[in-house]
Amino acid sequence: MAATARLDPHDEIADIDRRLFGGFVEHLGRHIYDGIFEPGHPDAGPDGFRRDVIDLVKELGVTTIRYPGGNFVSGYRWEDGIGPVDQRPRRLDLAWHSIETNEVGLHEFAGWLDQVGSDLMLAVNLGTRGTQEALDLLEYANVDAKTAWTDRRAANGRAEPFGVSMWCLGNEMDGPWQLGHRNAEDYGKIAARTAKAMRMVDPAIELVVCGSSGRSMPTFGSWERTVLEHTFDDVDFISCHAYYQERRGQAQEFLASSVDMTTFIESVVTTADAVAATKNSDKRIMISFDEWNIWYLHSDDGELMDKPEEPGWPVAPRLLEDRYSVLDAVVFGDLLITLLTHVDRVRSASLAQLVNVIAPIMTEPGGPAWRQTTFFPFSLTSRLAHGRAVHMPVSAPTFSSTAFGEVPTVDAVATIDEDGISVFVVNRSTTAPETLSVDLAPLLAELGRGLVVTESHLLHDDDMYAANTLEAPERVGLSTLTTEIDGASLRIELPAVSWGCVRLT
Ligand code: AHR
Repeated sequence: MAATARLDPHDEIADIDRRLFGGFVEHLGRHIYDGIFEPGHPDAGPDGFRRDVIDLVKELGVTTIRYPGGNFVSGYRWEDGIGPVDQRPRRLDLAWHSIETNEVGLHEFAGWLDQVGSDLMLAVNLGTRGTQEALDLLEYANVDAKTAWTDRRAANGRAEPFGVSMWCLGNEMDGPWQLGHRNAEDYGKIAARTAKAMRMVDPAIELVVCGSSGRSMPTFGSWERTVLEHTFDDVDFISCHAYYQERRGQAQEFLASSVDMTTFIESVVTTADAVAATKNSDKRIMISFDEWNIWYLHSDDGELMDKPEEPGWPVAPRLLEDRYSVLDAVVFGDLLITLLTHVDRVRSASLAQLVNVIAPIMTEPGGPAWRQTTFFPFSLTSRLAHGRAVHMPVSAPTFSSTAFGEVPTVDAVATIDEDGISVFVVNRSTTAPETLSVDLAPLLAELGRGLVVTESHLLHDDDMYAANTLEAPERVGLSTLTTEIDGASLRIELPAVSWGCVRLT
């Protein structure tokens, strides 16, 4: 059976919220220190931030960046990161068993964001702290009036507010590993109280309440229901977090990961809309998929791989420095297709994370910075997916997945903007190449003129475990995806285990 699809511009999903292409920077391992910030590096600017890394982050195309955690935020005192740097305290970071030097805080990070051209998304600490500290931070960041906090902000060099529009009410509060972990009832109450109070300070902000930290959490579903019963009127988004990894020798199963992401999104939407129904409300809670990625969190023996190997309390230890293969990047590209396919409800997402820590960009202290395999599908999708997303239902051969039953080998989505059309495709088969024939007739009828392929990119390697490393930073790159337009049909040749995209204008 050949793979076929149809591109009908009327089969619209929704306009794309560009916040879908967000990232995430946590004070974790070598993400900040010896990552984006390395004052002694030959490429560092006068502010200590590496310019080679800034260039790569710009090329990646991240729109918003969630900060400063993650698990880190649940023990963080944000005031430690303001004021003269030489007077800032060194603190224990309990989440990652490290020392936080506080050399980088809100002002420095916002300055870095100005250079990379991304917007700040802040998380407040609802682990070891509460409503008052969240209000203080919001006042410091956003208020344009003379107060004790805004005087301090001005004294610290910033007269104008930071104007942060998106705020997370804590992080993964359902997880027993989280400092200040609570049950859904208790978290729902503090999140609602904090949200109401924050809106009294700044009614324009958008608020994200914590959903489950994964679909496999034992409280998944009931957590979302209870938390939204408390916070429905006061929040705009509920978060989803998902990480995927290949289990030893199970590449084909791993390639079905996006089916799990689809089920996750659809379950959360159903739960949120069920709560809306009980409140007789037309309001729609949106999803902030604010942590997603490939993460080799478990060893083959099932052991958790999330703590420093160095003894004691190290500064910036090498933590979570996963090396990504072509296989990982193909699954990753498929996850991006899934996010685009659900852009009617997923209005924001954050790739977790950005530099060195489960990251598309790696650096070596005193040395180079390079692109991991996952860099390529992210940068291309962010650059080419504009306007509105359009379904591209595919009919394709299937493979059997233990977790998800019969899964189509090919998946795809399209986007349409004023200047052209982009098509994103994946071949999930570990063995069979596929030729996908896309029926463009409805699109051509709408346009009243022909189309040409102006760009086409393929991510594939005969060795699906090939990766970029310090020793071979350009081992994996992009090649040209073979395409042909024949009348009203677009033919795309997809090798086994490949991701690609085509631009038509
Ligand atoms: O992204 C790494 C960690 O994963 C984050 O700190 C936490 O929120 C999640 O468990």
